[in-house]
Amino acid sequence: MRRKIIAGNWKMNNTVTDSLELVRKLSVELKDVKDADIVVCPPFTALYSVGQEIEGSNIKLGAQNLFWEEKGAFTGEISAAMLKDVHCEYVIIGHSERRNIFKETNSNVNKKVKAVIGRGLLPIVCVGEKEEERKANKTFDIICAHIQRALAGLSADDLKGLIVAYEPVWAIGTGVNATAQQAQEVHAFIRDLVAKNFGKEPAAGLRIQYGGSVTPQNISSLIKEPDIDGALVGGASLKADSFLQIVKLSLQPGS
Ligand code: 13P
Repeated sequence: MRRKIIAGNWKMNNTVTDSLELVRKLSVELKDVKDADIVVCPPFTALYSVGQEIEGSNIKLGAQNLFWEEKGAFTGEISAAMLKDVHCEYVIIGHSERRNIFKETNSNVNKKVKAVIGRGLLPIVCVGEKEEERKANKTFDIICAHIQRALAGLSADDLKGLIVAYEPVWAIGTGVNATAQQAQEVHAFIRDLVAKNFGKEPAAGLRIQYGGSVTPQNISSLIKEPDIDGALVGGASLKADSFLQIVKLSLQPGS
């Protein structure tokens, strides 16, 4: 049985004050949750304060990006060691906003994944097709390229704890989520691909989140699918009420 993982990607939202207010509500309400990993990914400026606030709680800290070099003359960048220093455990890598707006390539994603694993942090590797790619029946080709190239050069051992997030670009921030069936089909494909490349055991243990317009209204149908192990939530993670509902609905019996 894979442990569920629900993460909130706050993107470029929330000051330190906003972040603390939100995470305080979450830690009170989620204090009894034991059967899932709950992760918040604030902007860099709030990581330290949020990390201090959630210390000892069952909420874990994640970052939204990093640079693969260890340190040096890389103005504006943050390293894995710096994230570890503020008690981050997870790092989102290759989000479609980074790929599309900041022109991150599969090769950049691969270097970042290796830097994260090298420091003992856990990558949340985002993959997903654009609307035109889905319409042109290229979904599986794109997912295959994203996965193969993000994970190139890794061993089966490196995959322990690594998370994949399937986030179809057309579903992000649009209010149009992938149906449970559409998401399940891609999740099963990813698991199969990982089995072919790394073996059955790492594939069976791999946690695959769905992301893209996840709300309290659609989480129950998504999470019931056999290969959907959690959610990476954007907009609905910015309000305590909706994120709490998503976490709680993800943990209902039968989910
Ligand atoms: P939304 O939940 O706002 O669609 O964002 C999804 C996402 O990009 C999470 O990383």
